[in-house]
Amino acid sequence: MKVLVVGSGGREHAIIASVAKSSRVDKIYCAPGNAGIGQMAECVPIGAMEFDRLVAFAREQAIDFTIVGMDDPLVGGIVDAFEAEGLKVFGPRKNAAILEGSKAFSKDLMKKYHIPTAGYETFDDPKQALAYLETAKMPIVLKADGLALGKGVLICNTLEEAKAGVKEIMEDKKFGEAGNHMVVEEFMTGREVSVLSFVDGKTIQIMSSAQDHKRAQDGDQGLNTGGMGTFSPSPFYTKDVDEFCKKYIYQATVDAMAAEGRPFVGVIFFGLMLTEEGPKVLEYNARFGDPEAQVVLPRMKNDIIDVMEACVEGRLDTIDLSFEDNAAVCVVLASDGYPVAYEKGLPISGLENFNGKEGYYCFHAGTKLSDDGKIVTNGGRVLGITAKGADLKEARANAYQATEWVEFANKYMRHDIGKAIDEA
Ligand code: AMP
Ligand code: GLY
Repeated sequence: MKVLVVGSGGREHAIIASVAKSSRVDKIYCAPGNAGIGQMAECVPIGAMEFDRLVAFAREQAIDFTIVGMDDPLVGGIVDAFEAEGLKVFGPRKNAAILEGSKAFSKDLMKKYHIPTAGYETFDDPKQALAYLETAKMPIVLKADGLALGKGVLICNTLEEAKAGVKEIMEDKKFGEAGNHMVVEEFMTGREVSVLSFVDGKTIQIMSSAQDHKRAQDGDQGLNTGGMGTFSPSPFYTKDVDEFCKKYIYQATVDAMAAEGRPFVGVIFFGLMLTEEGPKVLEYNARFGDPEAQVVLPRMKNDIIDVMEACVEGRLDTIDLSFEDNAAVCVVLASDGYPVAYEKGLPISGLENFNGKEGYYCFHAGTKLSDDGKIVTNGGRVLGITAKGADLKEARANAYQATEWVEFANKYMRHDIGKAIDEA
């Protein structure tokens, strides 16, 4: 079987590492990929948004199965483009990817189907938003409606900050067209958990839980990033939380999408907050999390192609999804200065230290091959170092040890990934 993966980050590297384990797969392509992915798959220089070229490539190479890792192409309708040509593809269609693509859509869906989430109002007129904020309780959360690389969320402590936020999002269009509409949401407190799931339109199966670390600096200080590290499972995702979410959130979301004529096939990522009143949905994503995939997929026992194919064929109920009874931690090695300004093109050494090391993974996020064939840094997040362990503490010690195996000049990481487990 020939498989094409669309994307170029650490998440796609983790997906490809799982695909490579499948006995059914003979050849893997990745568009556009990166230097690390290039060691496991043939990278094809086609961008993730170039649907016509991707479809033409899949037809010419007789690709049997395509997996879309990234949100932008999914929200843009890549699955519809592949299906229109009779190509088998894993991911939600455009009318279902809106679950991630529009926060206003997902909030309205949750309200209509009584799925627990923070209270909210939506606005398309900045004047009305400002008037609303005058009487609203602070802190408050402002969200640009569309995709904004996970950055279109502002948490405002005072009315002044909230007013400045409305200007940034709706008038200055700091997050582009995503700011034409804005959601104003009640501020919630609690621990965050990421739950990924496979969905076939009607059946949902939950993967092992995870927790991300979104802020750039230790102690959850600094700016929001794409994610600086993860651990799985989350000790805070207890049996009670699981039962509550199964009863009120997971199947309810899948059923709601089907009832709206938007059956969801692919991965739903539930960003949950465990509040005093119980678990609530912070956000939905229509794909694997990055870097959640880097700690969840290495622990999955199933052949990933079997599971994804069952989703596409609407028979996920025949799959017995299972995970190893261990733990994994991923520490992101970033370029110092991320997420604002940072140097790129710096040589990376020590990558060979991961060869043959069972339970250790070096997932490439932002790397490329230089003109003279060396692997160099090519982004804010450069590598995701994942290690397994018998439990979270062991996995964390292993992951931090492995962060010392690779070097590049402006290497930066958080030193407290997984520290929360000490409080569990
Ligand atoms: P989102 O992209 O919606 O997940 O928001 C990004 C981050 O902002 C979340 O992971 C939370 O840390 C924070 N956040 C979003 N919505 C809220 C909320 N209603 N209350 C508190 N924090 C929030
Ligand atoms: N790690 C959060 C995300 O992938 O959106």
